[in-house]
Amino acid sequence: MNAHAPALISQPVCAPLTPAALFLVLNIAPGEAAETAVRELCGDLSSLLRGVGFRDLQGELSCVMGFGSEAWDRLFGAPRPKNLHPFREINGVHRAVSTPGDILLHIRAMRPDLCFELAMHVMDRLGEAVTTEDEVHGFKFFDNRDLLGFVDGTENPVPQVAGAAALVGDEDPDFIGGSYAIVQKYLHDMKGWNAQPVERQETIIGRFKLSDIEMKDEAKAPYAHNVLTNIDDENGEQLQIVRDNMPFGEVGKGEFGTYFMGYAREPGRIERMLDNMFIGSPPGNYDRLLDFSRAVTGTLFFVPTVNFLDDVEA
Ligand code: HEM
Repeated sequence: MNAHAPALISQPVCAPLTPAALFLVLNIAPGEAAETAVRELCGDLSSLLRGVGFRDLQGELSCVMGFGSEAWDRLFGAPRPKNLHPFREINGVHRAVSTPGDILLHIRAMRPDLCFELAMHVMDRLGEAVTTEDEVHGFKFFDNRDLLGFVDGTENPVPQVAGAAALVGDEDPDFIGGSYAIVQKYLHDMKGWNAQPVERQETIIGRFKLSDIEMKDEAKAPYAHNVLTNIDDENGEQLQIVRDNMPFGEVGKGEFGTYFMGYAREPGRIERMLDNMFIGSPPGNYDRLLDFSRAVTGTLFFVPTVNFLDDVEA
């Protein structure tokens, strides 16, 4: 190995939860000029991030850029990440829709203005090369609670093992250090949820609401959210993902949501969790959270390394 070869740098998928996040899902306009503009941005993203982020280093600005399956072929061609495919719709007891998306930008910071400023520069560079499929501004709600009132993110893998859960390893040598991202925008039926006694809500989540303490396994319902999303491989090892859910909403419109953001070294484990939630495990034993939460988007992206982005030629 060349001692002076640049080290592989992953995009900051494992960055800790922040008080602010901005999610942009973009579609690339037809034509080569649009593809060129996107490729130019890939090479410039690190510099834009430095420009905005250095103005307040305590602000911990970070940005993750991912690409949908079709966009990958249009922009970069071969080789392509082994497990990159469009999000698969699930039609179970509830429906997980699959919606378009060529580019994901997941921007995080301690302050929303940093996210906003970076998003403005990125969109200025892209101009007419893209159209916006979805834009969500997430905010911290009390002690990292979702709008359903539960602390969200507690059982995320600790930093020492987050990389093993979220980053591609030797299984795909061309894309070591990359990651797969699945996003879903959920809208909550707050009236319906708030009409449930707290004990019922706790049974659905599998944790106590006020204290955030996990219920004992024997006390959990078979359909608890943390039973259905707790999955193992064939050797009994837990298959973990890194989540960065954020609350969002517009009070006047009666819109209250959770933006689900999940990273994994292969998308199959997130898809298995989704099957368990939407179809049920066994089928019919589905996640009751979905009786009060409707998925209105669903998209899968590959997140290449920083080195890959820096080396993209327009
Ligand atoms: C755990 C909320 C969707 C995967 C949790 C917890 C809450 C929560 C409150 C318990 C605290 C914690 O450990 O974070 C939500 C809400 C969702 C949602 C409000 C959307 C409406 C999803 C989806 C997935 C997922 C779509 C995966 C496909 C997980 C996992 C855990 C978890 C893996 C940890 C389970 C454990 O091992 O204890 N979620 N979640 N969640 N959720 Fe979700």
